[in-house]
Amino acid sequence: MNPVSAAYHAVFGETEHGLPTARPPALRILACGAVDDGKSTLIGRLLYESGAVPDDQRVALAADSRRYGAADGEIDFALLTDGLEAERERNITIDVAYRYMSTARRDFIIADTPGHEQYTANMATGASQCEVGIILVDAVRGLRPQTFRHAAICSILGIRHVVLAVNKMDGVGFSQARLGQIVEEFALAAKHLQLDMVAIPISARRGDNVVSISAAMPWYQGVTLLQYLEQLEVPRSDGEASLRLPIQGMSRTPEGERLYTGTIAAGGLSLGDRIKVAVGGAEAVIQRLIGSEGPVERAEAGTAVAVTLTPEIDLGRGDLLWSGPGAPACSSHFSAHVVWFAEPSLFAGRDYELRLGTLTSAVTVTAIRGKLDIISGARIAATEITRDEIAICHLATPGMIAFDSYAQCPATGGFLLINRATGETVAAGMVRNALDRGSNLFAQALTIDRKAREDLLGQKGAVLWLTGLSGAGKSTIADGLERRLHAKRKLTILLDGDNVRLGLNRDLGFTEGDRVENLRRVAEVARLMVDAGLIVLCSFISPFAADRAMVRERLAGTPFFEIFVDAPLDICEQRDPKGLYAKARRGEIRNFTGLDSAYEQPSAPDLHLDTSRYGADELADRIVRFLVEQGIAT
Ligand code: ADX
Repeated sequence: MNPVSAAYHAVFGETEHGLPTARPPALRILACGAVDDGKSTLIGRLLYESGAVPDDQRVALAADSRRYGAADGEIDFALLTDGLEAERERNITIDVAYRYMSTARRDFIIADTPGHEQYTANMATGASQCEVGIILVDAVRGLRPQTFRHAAICSILGIRHVVLAVNKMDGVGFSQARLGQIVEEFALAAKHLQLDMVAIPISARRGDNVVSISAAMPWYQGVTLLQYLEQLEVPRSDGEASLRLPIQGMSRTPEGERLYTGTIAAGGLSLGDRIKVAVGGAEAVIQRLIGSEGPVERAEAGTAVAVTLTPEIDLGRGDLLWSGPGAPACSSHFSAHVVWFAEPSLFAGRDYELRLGTLTSAVTVTAIRGKLDIISGARIAATEITRDEIAICHLATPGMIAFDSYAQCPATGGFLLINRATGETVAAGMVRNALDRGSNLFAQALTIDRKAREDLLGQKGAVLWLTGLSGAGKSTIADGLERRLHAKRKLTILLDGDNVRLGLNRDLGFTEGDRVENLRRVAEVARLMVDAGLIVLCSFISPFAADRAMVRERLAGTPFFEIFVDAPLDICEQRDPKGLYAKARRGEIRNFTGLDSAYEQPSAPDLHLDTSRYGADELADRIVRFLVEQGIAT
């Protein structure tokens, strides 16, 4: 036995506790805190004292500690984990490091997450399935916003047990009053977040109350951190959980049968089990069950399997097989916590790619219902969610999807949102519950469609989307274009920014969130009108590329042309037909496009018109020629 385990056993007494016969499954711990809170030192010490550090590394560590200036005979435990921290700083893709240790009583997996504030979100993605959170606080500096943010993330990740490890007690003279003050400040947040919180005063550097009880804090009557972790009981439902098998792919057996592959996300699966497909409800029996080593009788959560079904059902990636008492939710609408970690902010109305289990789908954030106030844990009103904030959102997919609440099954209730234009992961989400607003709605197949109406009108419907700065000439060109098409006996409609905002959208302003909603509604109106067979002219500043992409997508299947009405800002400002630039310069209008609100130029418009060089009539003629080429006008 190494000296540290010996010391450990001296503290806890082997005979008193005895060695458990059947070891419980490893306790999964989420370690949250910044490097300067002492997280590396704490984890290093836990690893070291539990014997997870091999002898040669111990020798090297002692030497390194001396070299880096530790006092004689002292060990700098942070050196065990800091190398990785530095690596992270260079390469932020290393988000969570898993560290393993065992004591006589239990095995532990520590998810060591980056401490820097801007990496908080990685904590949410990498640390699912942890059962206890250690939130590190520096007793000298006290609670910081990130402490509350860590607590909030623990809460939404479904972690109920949290240790507030109040570190550097040696820096505050081991003061009981200081501990009391910190605990009192944190208690309200813990209550709001429904965390079962235990505070332990420690000094990771000196070792007080980490593995052995501190002589310096005789007033502390509780357990050490390691004792707490060893004794914590967490109910596990793995054994009885209902089956969740998200389908990853399909191949064929030599006999040509469909062989579906996937990793069991929850529950277990036996040969001959009757399973259901979550979306659609088809039922089948497991005919063959193959594990990584060959055919098996039974497979449990966490294992990769391949199955054949009788009868054969046509499934695809993203389908979910289930059985057992608890059915997954099946809906196109759900409510979720979303940890936003991108610039720009999140606004309702935007579309993303959803990755949930093996499923990939389009998704719209339909509403922001508020955000979590990280200090109090309470929900506060919000329409914009900035980086590192946690929103409570409603989301909608075009079709039905199957999922669980994150609390029930992280594998089928946790998701990522991807910006489809850039491929960037912008958020991690946790499903709260299904919303039934979408479940009782069914797209009706209608007999008279766009084609039938177009035939009646003798024309082809299309959407022309004019984008550009205020004063660039969009409305003038659109007006000229409509007159020309009308003269050619084409039935048109012109949706113009100012006009739509005087009616349908009179409740909307010019914040980014309102502009998103403005265009979402316009896209839906344009869709109805093009379905009626009309040529729809839309004239909107539409300054953000993401929203123009959203409009284009909502109009998929319709001839859609983006026309960039381009004029330099200074020319638009000189023209200033409505006197708005002057007002904005005087500070009477806020969020004015081109001044204090951005205009993102289209990168690949179907037509690019330069209104500083050509007149509106000339440009309207040019669009007509373009429409003739496209077969829309004759
Ligand atoms: S969009 O950004 O949401 O696409 P939209 O085209 O509907 O804008 O409306 C723009 C019109 O609103 C402008 O032509 C201008 O007359 C008026 N307006 C009032 N305030 C603003 C503002 N802050 N920014 C831009 N346009 C404004």
